[in-house]
Amino acid sequence: MARKKVGILLSGRGSNMMALVQAAQANDSPYAIALVASDKLEAPGIAWAAAQGLSVFTQSPKGMAKSDYEALIDAALRDAGVEIIALAGYMRLLSDAFVARWRGRIINIHPSLLPKYKGLDTHARAIAAGDAVAGCSVHIVTEELDGGAVLGQAEVPILPGDTADSLADRVLAAEHRLYPRILAEFATQ
Ligand code: GAR
Repeated sequence: MARKKVGILLSGRGSNMMALVQAAQANDSPYAIALVASDKLEAPGIAWAAAQGLSVFTQSPKGMAKSDYEALIDAALRDAGVEIIALAGYMRLLSDAFVARWRGRIINIHPSLLPKYKGLDTHARAIAAGDAVAGCSVHIVTEELDGGAVLGQAEVPILPGDTADSLADRVLAAEHRLYPRILAEFATQ
């Protein structure tokens, strides 16, 4: 069976992208990484991906209309034959038009147990609320921020003395296990 071609969008460190790339190296992976793209020219994840020999594409949106920026990203993804877009720390909102063009084929990892804590500062908000568990979710991207159908979640405990940073580290380790598994399931649908 042909592997589904995945395009990853990121804005920074790229540790989730690395987990997806490493999982795609397995002989039985149902997906292959066709492109790693970023809105940040200096994103550490892009340098890592390029060093792995992956195709990379960077485009700063500065000084451009959002629609023009997204048209370039869209063209790069289509040129690479991408069938599924996996957002991995991509910190820019996609327009409704972009989401519509890729309807049902964009997934995202978010550092909370959705529907709790959409948006930013998820770990600080979970601690402030006195929650006993935190976690991460992989979901379909729709026009509603962090609002699409949840495909899978992983929970971690919130421990006494946790800070947003210590909790983020624990959640991130869970993200690296969850995201490759859920993407593999999604790619075989
Ligand atoms: C991850 O924790 C991811 O869940 C989060 O950004 C981090 C990216 O880390 N994404 C969001 O907050 C999206 N709203 P990474 O660059 O090391 O993968």
